[in-house]
Amino acid sequence: MQLRVVTDQPWVVPADLLVVPIAGEPAWDGPLGEIDRRANGELQALHAFGELRAKRFTSSLAASGAVKASRILTVSVGDPVDLDRETVVHFAAAAAHRLSGRVTSSMAVWLEPLTTLAGGAEAVAMLVARGVVEGGYDPATIYRENVKTAPPILDELILIAPAGADVAGLTAAAVRGQVIGEGANLARTLANRSSNDVSPEVLAEEAWGVAEKHGLWIDVIGPEKATELGMGMFMAVGQGSDNPPRMIVMRSGKKAEKDAAGRHLAIIGKGVCFDSGGISIKPSDRMEEMKMDKTGACTVIAAIATVARLAPGTPLLALAPAVENMPGPHSTRPGDIVKALNGKWVDIINTDAEGRLILGDAMTYAERLGATHLVDVATLTGAVARALGDMVTGAFGNDQAWTDSVLEAGASAGERFWQLPLVDDYLQDMESWYGDITNSSGADGSLVKSGLFLREFATKPWVHLDIAGTGYYRKTKPFAARGASGASHATLVELALAGAQPA
Ligand code: BES
Ligand code: MN
Ligand code: ZN
Repeated sequence: MQLRVVTDQPWVVPADLLVVPIAGEPAWDGPLGEIDRRANGELQALHAFGELRAKRFTSSLAASGAVKASRILTVSVGDPVDLDRETVVHFAAAAAHRLSGRVTSSMAVWLEPLTTLAGGAEAVAMLVARGVVEGGYDPATIYRENVKTAPPILDELILIAPAGADVAGLTAAAVRGQVIGEGANLARTLANRSSNDVSPEVLAEEAWGVAEKHGLWIDVIGPEKATELGMGMFMAVGQGSDNPPRMIVMRSGKKAEKDAAGRHLAIIGKGVCFDSGGISIKPSDRMEEMKMDKTGACTVIAAIATVARLAPGTPLLALAPAVENMPGPHSTRPGDIVKALNGKWVDIINTDAEGRLILGDAMTYAERLGATHLVDVATLTGAVARALGDMVTGAFGNDQAWTDSVLEAGASAGERFWQLPLVDDYLQDMESWYGDITNSSGADGSLVKSGLFLREFATKPWVHLDIAGTGYYRKTKPFAARGASGASHATLVELALAGAQPA
């Protein structure tokens, strides 16, 4: 997709489609009125008919009359006072997603009505380019070609900036948005691929491919080495499957090198390529969704690739413990006691609470490799999805300053997070007769307890992001196809880039 920034009036830009944001009630006395006049009053007619409502991400197609673009697509963004970065991304994604099954190769987006956003036209250009790329994603094409319902592949995206805008600056911002969108889509494709396709070994091969392409260091640890190192929790989950586990470790920059913010950041993603629950087997209803349980791993692999594209050499570690959680003669049994890499003895009460086991060992290993700050991202609990739904990611942290930095990166990425408390009192329920801690204990406060368990494996500032609700959409959204959403990819990228060398 070619990107072009122009500062012409929206009605003189030739394209297959002109996308017009509608913020609040349409005002016909400004440039929107001029577009309407040139379109022979089509927009006002649609408005009178009841279209162009303020409800976010509703859209209408209109004939364009004397407007140079062949068609007009209005997309509502809701009340302008509520306009935020997430809304801008989703507005653009809704425009691209709206074209599913349509024939279009060039799209022009009129930015001016959005430029009240903090950060102005430059921020809008970045977020719109990212949104168009993300909204044009459709997993229906992963295994099949010529899917007629998929969004068209755009040859050109034209961003129509206000007169006097810094075209070079906006173009650079838009390219950055495009790269972030492409990274999110890479994470989504890896996550959406099925478990018979993407085993831990295949995920490691994909990571090798990414590392080679972007000049990253990579180490893939198999079961023998993991056992020798003492990754008892990681192996307890991985040993139950015929598909052997892989601890994937990727790095940009040098070993333990500090970034411009004085950190050696590690991003760690849960890579359960299929979560049957193991011996504590899950009910069959919706078990197929557990192919998505590798989404955290896919997200960190894609995020380090994106960072390598945008700011090569930025110090960053990515770890993706990849396993299949299966029942079988080699599986861990409820009641098994294993020794974690950090030396703690863990009483595995429930083999379905496996994510925290593989993440705990990966966190310890990240610290051994010199990480000073940790963020893990995981489809960890059904409870977070029940509590916060599919639009808000749950966050936990052991250090408020670090947690605030992660939440700040989330705000600039236009992603929503909600911090949850680590309630020390609940540790009592997690005591074990035989070990230092159990991996699961009753339903009350289970979301908080998942965070408390992980905290046992961090000695450095650490944040846990639970994307079990946000990582994939069960139904199509106006701005996204069904399936993996890419949630938290942009946040991790922003967080890492805060440590990039200033250009
Ligand atoms: N992968 C699941 C969590 C999950 C559930 C993700 C639904 C997406 C949708 C995780 O491994 C799991 O099984 N968690 C258990 C924890 C419990 C056994 C303490 C859960 O949420 O029920
Ligand atoms: Mn599980
Ligand atoms: Zn799981």
